[in-house]
This record gives sequence, structure tokens and C-alpha cells, in this order.
Amino acid sequence: MTAVPIAHEALGADPNRLRTLLDRFAGLSEPDSGPGVTRLAYSRLEREAHAVFAAHMTGLGAAVWTDAAGNTLAELPGTDPAAPAVGTGSHLDSVPNGGRFDGIVGVVAAMETARLVTTHRVGHRHPLRFVVFAAEEGARFGQACTGSRIVAGLTGPDDLPGKRDADGVSLADAMSGVGLDPTRVSDARWDPAGWAAFVELHIEQGAVLESTDRRVGVVDAISGSTRMRIDLAGRASHSGGTPMHLRADAAAAAAEIVLLVESVALRAAAWGTRATVGRIDVAPGSMTTIAGSASLWVDVRGLDGDRQHRAATEIVESATAACARRGVRCTTTPLAETPPVPLPAAVRDTLVAACADLGLEPTVLPSGASHDAQQVNEVTPTGMIFIPSRDGISHDPAEHTDIDDVALGTTVLAESLLRLDGEL
Ligand code: GLV
Ligand code: MN
Ligand code: MN
Repeated sequence: MTAVPIAHEALGADPNRLRTLLDRFAGLSEPDSGPGVTRLAYSRLEREAHAVFAAHMTGLGAAVWTDAAGNTLAELPGTDPAAPAVGTGSHLDSVPNGGRFDGIVGVVAAMETARLVTTHRVGHRHPLRFVVFAAEEGARFGQACTGSRIVAGLTGPDDLPGKRDADGVSLADAMSGVGLDPTRVSDARWDPAGWAAFVELHIEQGAVLESTDRRVGVVDAISGSTRMRIDLAGRASHSGGTPMHLRADAAAAAAEIVLLVESVALRAAAWGTRATVGRIDVAPGSMTTIAGSASLWVDVRGLDGDRQHRAATEIVESATAACARRGVRCTTTPLAETPPVPLPAAVRDTLVAACADLGLEPTVLPSGASHDAQQVNEVTPTGMIFIPSRDGISHDPAEHTDIDDVALGTTVLAESLLRLDGEL
């Protein structure tokens, strides 16, 4: 990979420091949880990771605080006390058996940017605010981006008791379990007057950059998602004694639904929509018993909100019809709804200009994954920078991004924040 000249020599991010930080966070994983990193939303380990960030930022002289949603914020004052903040950040929670880069890259980049700015005494008019959002991953509660949704006023106290993880623990109880008061989350809402702009650096979680040999991307839109759980009630019975024509097999119905979810997303009318059954629970889970019940977790993503909703509706209709044919009862529970979000051209232009300053030509591309930036854009103009994911893999222990790309992305981030500081 060729070296990239850095316009502001002083702001060249240090790959070794970034690697050390990534290693530190990767070490905070649930013991005995299998390969990769498991650090779930509103878990003790997520809190520990936030504490690592807080200690680093305190050491740099930043003011650090945790809000009522469990987000951790750090601020370096600017020269104009009345100016609104220019911000950056991402998340430190992971999916079960995830990688060490998703979210973490944006946080270590924020930590390194703060170090560069303070060490080199880089002047800035706006306060620089660094944010670690809580509970970005929807893997545990269905709802993604809980911390950032709360600051944007998209999730409030009434939404928390009803969202439950697979063990039945509610979002509200999980928050209480780590010392937060879920009834007070509205205190965390951001005042748009306090913000000038926000930029998130993230791994691409796809293979567009790698396949086009680009090291940096600038995001123009973020996909939405419609998530639901489909519960199937069939009839458990003896696998040998029950003839095929007398069954109401919940596992067979689940299998049919997995395939129809795929076929709905593959239809020409759903172009660009992605639909996934990422989890199926079957009970009683015995080889010699026909499954009496099953639950499927379905995630429908799109850059076009109409197509996303139409696909979700079609999935429910065809699942219901398939179950009726099989004598299986089918109930659908909506889990979360997020619209696709176009990001503002003005911030994108600044990010592209920051890349140009560094001799880089970025690819402008949409994000297939959800991000905190999507929610933050409700409060303040927001941009996103992507760096490549090896083989496009993410949400898996094989997730990998070269440390030189993490450093380059951090340098682009720092350059972008300082450009925004000068422009706004
Ligand atoms: C976040 O990682 C998502 O699931 O899009
Ligand atoms: Mn992420
Ligand atoms: Mn993720």
C-alpha cells in the first residue's frame, strides 16, 4: 500500500498508538463467549470500555461526563466560548462474537485526534466534543443506536421497558443494571444550538472500497431498517409416531419463511433491499420431537424507505399465508423502525475537500449498515468517513482493517474536524 502525503504533518495519526488502543478494547470481551469480541449493549464490559475512553480523555485535560443514556462525552474547549461544538465519535459495544473494529475505530480515532490536537496545541474556535455512544448495536434489544437515538429525541423513557433481549431483560432493566436511571434518559437530549457539525469515522462493513482499491470513502446516505420477530406456534409431537400429513411443524414453517424472506428481497421491485433472518430459536429443540414453536428475527434494510416497507409488508403477508397452509399460528412483533437518511451535501463536500488536502480521492458511497451518525443528523449536520473492511466482512471475528488505513482514516477525520472548525 502506498504512503499518503499528509498536509498537516503534525496531525498524522500514529498507527502504533491506535493499535494499542484497539488491542486494549479487544481485551474487554465476555469470558467463555467464543471467538471474537462480545461486549453487548448496556453490559458491565461496555461500561468498562467507556471508562477506558474517559480515563484517556481526562488524561488529555478534556472535561469528561456520562449522560443519562450512558453515552460518554469529552470536550476540549475552543477559543470562542459561545461557539457550538464540532463533534466526532462512535460506539464501543459489539454484536455477539463480533470483530474488534466496528465502532471501536471511530472511538480510537477520536482519542487519537484529541491527543494530536492537545499535544500539538492546534488552535480551534469551536469546542471539540468526542462522544462514545451507548448501545449502538441492535443485536441485543432489536433497537439499534439507543444512545444516539436518545440524544436525538427519537427514543424516550417510555420506549425502554418494552424492548427485551432474548433472555427477557428489558432495555430499562439493563440500563438500571449498570447504574443508569432509565426514567431520566430525556435529560440526555442534545440542544441543536449546542452543535455545529458531527463526523463519524467507521469501517465500511462492505467491500466497495476494497474492490475499487480506494482507502477512504465519504458516505452520502445511510440505510434504514425495519426489524421484527415472527413467532410460530405449531404442535410438538413424536417425530416417529406422527405421519407427515398430520403435522404442524414450526421448524418446517420457519425454514419456509427464511427462504421467502430471501426471495422477497431478491424480487426486482425490491432492488437494493437486503432482508435477513439472522436468528432462529426452535423449541423444544430435540431431535426426536417435531418443533412446537419457533421464533425468527428478521432485519430488512434499504436506502429507499418505500421499498424497505413494502418488502417488510410482503414478508409478513407471505409468512402468514405459508403458516396458514401448514396449520401453524404466526404472530409478528415489530422490534424497530429506522428510515434511511441522506447525509447533508455540505458536510460531505468538506470531507471530500479534507481528503483532497491529503492527496486522497475518496469514493462517495452509501452505508448499508446503521450508524449513530444517522441519528445525530437529526440534531446537527453530520458526515461519515469509511475505511476499508477486508473482504467486506463485519459482525464476525474475521473483521479486519489494516492499521495503516485506521491511521489514514484518523488523519482524514482530524483534518475534517479542523476544516469544519474553520468553515462554520
Ligand atoms: C450496526 O452495526 C448495524 O447492525 O447496522
Ligand atoms: Mn458500528
Ligand atoms: Mn455493528
